Amino acid sequence: MTDKVYKTIREALGVELGAGRDFHIEPYAPFGDLAPDFYSVRNKDSAVNNFVAYCPPRWSRAFLWPLPDTGRRPGHGLFLIPHLSADSSTKGLDLGCGQSMFLGMQLHHLGAGSVTGLDKVPPGESLGSWLDEKTRYVQGDILDETVLGGDMFDVAITHPPMAPTENQEGKRTNTDHDVAGPTGREVLDFIISHWTKKLRPGGELVIGQFDFLGVMAAHGDPPCTAEVLGEAGLAIEQVHTYHVPITPTIKNALGLIRSVYPKYPFEKRGDTTYHQFSVINARKNK
Ligand SMILES: C[S@@+](CC[C@H](N)C(=O)[O-])C[C@H]1O[C@@H](n2cnc3c(N)ncnc32)[C@H](O)[C@@H]1O
Repeated sequence: MTDKVYKTIREALGVELGAGRDFHIEPYAPFGDLAPDFYSVRNKDSAVNNFVAYCPPRWSRAFLWPLPDTGRRPGHGLFLIPHLSADSSTKGLDLGCGQSMFLGMQLHHLGAGSVTGLDKVPPGESLGSWLDEKTRYVQGDILDETVLGGDMFDVAITHPPMAPTENQEGKRTNTDHDVAGPTGREVLDFIISHWTKKLRPGGELVIGQFDFLGVMAAHGDPPCTAEVLGEAGLAIEQVHTYHVPITPTIKNALGLIRSVYPKYPFEKRGDTTYHQFSVINARKNK
């Protein structure tokens, strides 16, 4: 089965880059079996991985993402990929898209009519030749919902920064992509209350979030996502949840997280602390 998958990925590389290059392909599994079907692809002349590929075994095609040289690689964003859908009528928006516009490029791969990625950091150089008039990257602040003018969208995706920070001021000026105000909900709540006005009636919002922020129930004083969505006129249709080990960023913020979300049950397995990451598919009322 793996041989077939590798052959399919090589075919996709040939289509994108032309024949005659030699690639090393291996599983890309930062979360083990939890987010399967991803692969690292390295040009044999290169010291670093050049692409991530996605190819479920039953597929006869593979999707590719060129990776930025900065070293930042997709992490929890992998969990959202199987839960995204688009067709040629879809106008997609990826809020906090990151340098490889990982989630927005999935809408592009699925054949979306157009995709806009928004992030405060500039796009990775390697993304440049993959962008066109239908797939664009805008450098700007999510906390200003006017940056894209009056454009309206059918699908918005966000995997926002979610680590609480002591410093309220920090959220606009920090350069750490994970930091999101004193409750960790600032960017997520801003997206739900402001950016969903840019969704057409019946449009979809897909969120990847840590459960300690509260999905269906609150774990502290800040309201949960279901409640914030309800106030904005959206209802949750599906939630897919994954148990994941905490990253160093969450480990560093653990004291603060426990004080803001005292009811959240972190789970200890051996030396490792686990929590949950949820993918939420929500829809705006018609
Ligand atoms: C958790 S990462 C997600 C990256 C990518 N979407 C993925 O799933 O791999 C959050 C992203 O939000 C961006 N970001 C954080 N605060 C932002 C802001 N105020 N305006 C625009 N982008 C922001 C960061 O630069 C980072 O790329």
